[in-house]
Amino acid sequence: MTVTRHANPLLDAATRPLPRRIAVIGAGTIGPDIAYYLKTALPGLALTLVDIRAEAIDAALARLRGYADKAVARGKMTPAQAAAALEGLTGSTDYGAIEGCDWVLEAATEDLPLKRRIFAQVESVVGADAVITSNTSSLPAARLFTELRHPARATVTHFFAPAWRNPAVEVIDWAGADPALVVWLRRLFAATGKLPLVTTDAPCFMLDRIFDNWCNDAALLLADASAAEIDSVAAEFVHAGPFFVLNLAHGNPIIVETNTLQADEEGEHYRPASIFGSVDRWLTVAPGKPVEVDAARRARVRDRLLGVLWSQSVDILDRGIGEPADLDLGCRIALGFKRGPLELLRDAGDAEARRVLARFAAERPGMPMPARPLPDYQPRERHVLVDRVGDVVVVTLRRPEALNALHDEMTDEVLAAIRRHEDDPAVAGFVITGYGLKAFCAGADIGRFPSLLGDAQAAAQYARECSRLLVHLDAARKPVVAALNGLALGGGFELAMRCHAIVADRGARMQLPEVTLGIVPGIGAMVVPYRRWPQAAEVFHRMLARGERLSAAQAHELGIADALADGFDALVACAIDRVHALAGAVPRIAERAPAPPRLQTDATPPRSADGRVLSAAVVGVIARAVHDAAAAPTLAEALEVGYRAFGEVACTAAAREGIEAFLAHRAPDFGATG
Ligand code: HXC
Repeated sequence: MTVTRHANPLLDAATRPLPRRIAVIGAGTIGPDIAYYLKTALPGLALTLVDIRAEAIDAALARLRGYADKAVARGKMTPAQAAAALEGLTGSTDYGAIEGCDWVLEAATEDLPLKRRIFAQVESVVGADAVITSNTSSLPAARLFTELRHPARATVTHFFAPAWRNPAVEVIDWAGADPALVVWLRRLFAATGKLPLVTTDAPCFMLDRIFDNWCNDAALLLADASAAEIDSVAAEFVHAGPFFVLNLAHGNPIIVETNTLQADEEGEHYRPASIFGSVDRWLTVAPGKPVEVDAARRARVRDRLLGVLWSQSVDILDRGIGEPADLDLGCRIALGFKRGPLELLRDAGDAEARRVLARFAAERPGMPMPARPLPDYQPRERHVLVDRVGDVVVVTLRRPEALNALHDEMTDEVLAAIRRHEDDPAVAGFVITGYGLKAFCAGADIGRFPSLLGDAQAAAQYARECSRLLVHLDAARKPVVAALNGLALGGGFELAMRCHAIVADRGARMQLPEVTLGIVPGIGAMVVPYRRWPQAAEVFHRMLARGERLSAAQAHELGIADALADGFDALVACAIDRVHALAGAVPRIAERAPAPPRLQTDATPPRSADGRVLSAAVVGVIARAVHDAAAAPTLAEALEVGYRAFGEVACTAAAREGIEAFLAHRAPDFGATG
């Protein structure tokens, strides 16, 4: 059967219902963490943890109760949600307990004969259509599942630590799997907050080929540098160096096992460093506490680390093991890289990358080398997914690490995708949505703001440049519809406002939280609503000046959202209908605005909708900008008012406080800044 897979897994049709009963086999570290993710993501799920050791099950269940308690204490869950997550969570030493499960997930020791015995036992109890997956990090599915009576319902789902929080999951598309199974797993993961990355069935799949060889080459370097020095040099690329991570994860035996597998299958150059056999814990330094490394040694270690990263990356892509954008994203999210290997390759430039690779080839004969010009390895898009659904192009914002927050590269990719298709007569228009079900877009990337503080011109110019996509939409000939699948905040809502229609999932929520950060929404929110939805002017006043939230239902009542939908499938269908309805009749934002009612700013101190003290200076700038923008004779001049207001607040003490507080995960104190 051929099954089409869209880049956004949620655009694929559901090939089977959600699971109702799951068993996780193996109550070690990762099995219970996977169980916790499933129980918190799928309310009402019955889940059994199976292990041959009763004490391991007891310890695992106690650990999960501890997770739930902590989540409540930190305000991440209500007591009722925690109770629901723990309800229906059981443990058993008896395989009979998995009877009736629709998914059995194996997370036992990395031992092929043992895993095969487990699968035989599982298959003797569950129905012929129950899904079976293994959490192996290295063993190919073809080897694990060939002895099953019904192998097409089985594959590998490889999670990363800590599995309850780390979104990455590799889903292996192996030759024996029913293609509909891979579609189902991707969709399920994407709908439950995970980031599924599909790979082929190569030993160690995609991300562990990077991680294991990164660690192995670090160990081979120990002839020339200490573990502490190597971790210190690696800190340029990763949040924690290879030896620190190996200590944390007790990972030495895993590297020996996985690199032996690669060596046996693919050549001696993968053989694990012999030092792994004699060392239990590495003498190294914690992240953030580097040691001095002399320049020559630093250069040598750096070249080698980059060499192994790039060698593995080009091999993965040449063999089609995974997709380039997934490779970079997976390395960042699953493995803690600060930037993906392909981003590093691009930024190094061709000559420098060739030099590093030539040195690596000389030091590590046999290791893979590029088979194509280096630019060919770069993904076309890193931060968006582009799909065709009939005659509509669906652009999905995908930055799961930041709730799809917009930054320059993402903005450019959305714009490029629109430009690429807007002259194609076969394309009726566009839908923009967000990856997953939590967020459409959490606004502009706040991490970019510190460099703008104190410089009004630079900040205004940044707002102007951020608007290049939005200004393009203002004049676009083909309809672009925003499909709000979750939170639309700040700049994310401002993007939706410039689309030609908004459709929203019934659970979506809109907010302009900038005032709570000590800044203003400078790319249209102080301008566009008063021209597009003057009937909602008072609501927008409160959203701007108090950070008040707007539910999808309220937005619909006010005419801001054109339609509401229940669930992602209905949302996209509805957005596509709007594209068709608007064909040839793309609405334009009015050049002039009716005078809005006065925006009240006299409460002292001003407070947010949830009672927090706000900055009077920032609220004052908002009130003035809304007034001045409404009075501006053209849309372009009104938008300029917004850019300049963003520049103005960037110089306030409130902006510094608000941005620093967000990035430090603390509440801002605007009482002190005014
Ligand atoms: C950068 C962001 C982000 C953003 C979320 N994240 N929003 N990073 N820019 N706008 C990151 C978080 O730091 C976190 O990273 C990760 O995404 C997950 O978010 P959490 O906060 O852990 O999730 P949760 O507790 O569920 O809270 C969700 C949230 C919160 C309430 C939406 O993330 C939030 O308040 N975000 C900021 C929203 C916002 O203020 N948007 C307006 C931006 S200003 P880590 O690494 O910690 O896991 C803007 C101005 C436009 O848009 C004008 C420009 C000129």
